[in-house]
This record gives sequence, C-alpha cells and structure tokens, in this order.
Amino acid sequence: MKLLFVGDVVGSPGREMLKEYLPRIKEKYRPHITVVNGENSAAGRGITEKIYREFLEWGAQAVTLGNHAWDNRDIFEFVDKAKYLVRPANFPAETPGEGLKFLKWNQYEIAIINLQGRTFMPPLDCPFAKADELAKQARKRTPMIFVDFHGEATSEKQAMGWYLDGKVSAVVGTHTHVQTADNRILPNGTAFLSDVGMTGPYDGILGMEREAVIHRFLTSLPVRFEVPKTGRTILSAVLLDIDEQTGKSRKIDRILINDDHPFFS
Ligand SMILES: [Fe+2]
Repeated sequence: MKLLFVGDVVGSPGREMLKEYLPRIKEKYRPHITVVNGENSAAGRGITEKIYREFLEWGAQAVTLGNHAWDNRDIFEFVDKAKYLVRPANFPAETPGEGLKFLKWNQYEIAIINLQGRTFMPPLDCPFAKADELAKQARKRTPMIFVDFHGEATSEKQAMGWYLDGKVSAVVGTHTHVQTADNRILPNGTAFLSDVGMTGPYDGILGMEREAVIHRFLTSLPVRFEVPKTGRTILSAVLLDIDEQTGKSRKIDRILINDDHPFFS
C-alpha cells in the first residue's frame, strides 16, 4: 500500500499549494491513502472545521495535528465528531479528540497515530509509552501502522524510530518545518524520516514573515509572527510503500516541490 504524507501545511499559502499540487502528486505517484498534517493550517496556528473539510475534499483521508492543535478555538467545536482528525495521543486522557484512527483501503486497514515530543516542548505524557500502548492496540486490527511524531529534537525522533522499529510501519517526524534527508528503512522494517518539512511560504522563516523573526533575534523583544500572504511556496511530503501482510515498509521517498526543486509530472 502506498501512503502519501504531506508535512505541516502553513496558512493560506500552504493550503493553496496543497490544493494545486495534491491532484498532480496523486496522479504521478498513485497513493492509496493520503494524510496531511494540518496543525498550522489556520493562519499558522491550529485548524478550523472548514479547513479540515477542505483537506478531505482535496483528497486527504486523514489530518494529523501537533502542539498548535488547540490554538484556534474552532477545534473544540468539531474535534470529537471529526472522524479523520488525529491529535497527539499523549495529551492527558481528559483532552478531547483521539490520537489513533483507522483508515480503510479495499480489504485493508491502516492505523494513523499522532504523537508529540517532550524535548524542548511542553510536558505531556510519555510519547514512548503511549506509542507502545497504541501500537499494540492497533496491531490487533492491522499490521500497517503510520506514526506522525510531532517533535522538535532530532534525537527524540530518532529514538522513537529505533524504539518502534519492527512495531510500526513508519515513524515520520513533523514540526521543525525543514525536510531532513535521512529517509531510510530501519533493520526491522520501519520506515523513518526525522522531519518531512512544511508546506507553505518558501521565503519566510519556518513559514512566518522573516522580518519579524529576524527582528526578534536582533532585539529579543516579543514579536507577533504572521504567515506571509504572498510569495513563493513549497510543498514537502513523503511517500511510503508498505507491505499489506507484514506491515513492514519497502520504500520511503521524499517529495519536495519549490522553485529550486520543480515538480515534473
Ligand atoms: Fe508544531
């Protein structure tokens, strides 16, 4: 089974990039399942129900989140009824929403798990213990398990990849907004990538207006970061090929589309 995962969609430039390129990417690579990380999709912070529904309309089967999941208050209105929205699983048990969802493709199922790191990030329940618990739960239904690990530290993401090697099909990192080049299949069949990168403004800093970010570095004063409305854009994604019977990954390829890496269909 081929799974396409698109990295952190940032604001309206990210949404426009996704809308324009998702059909073209799907035509070229023919994924069976598409998952999009949407935690920055509403003006860089959080997601709304309208955006969630648009992602599904444009061809995603599930939307994952991260530390900005709760930034747009609209989330509380729809998170519990959104069947294909997956928030980090290691939030406290009282938090609305769920961190594990199952998607169907023909007679097969794939589990989608979202977890959040704790290194240089707000404290949450242990993502490793939660990963173990959910992977065990998911394996009762399917060997195909995809993990979006939303974390800041490469070390924590590598640790998660090795920890889950052989227990899940893939551990793919999100959150740093910069695509890493370390895509590989670990010895026991788990595909790994530290970070898939972002989808949105190409000439900002991590998707935000660069002047404000530079100003903050120069002055150490609090500055409000905004997503630039115009300018060049980037799309970052990863394509997995997973064995339906064993759940092991056969292949993990990075996809990067921007003016320096144009898309050829
Ligand atoms: Fe994030």
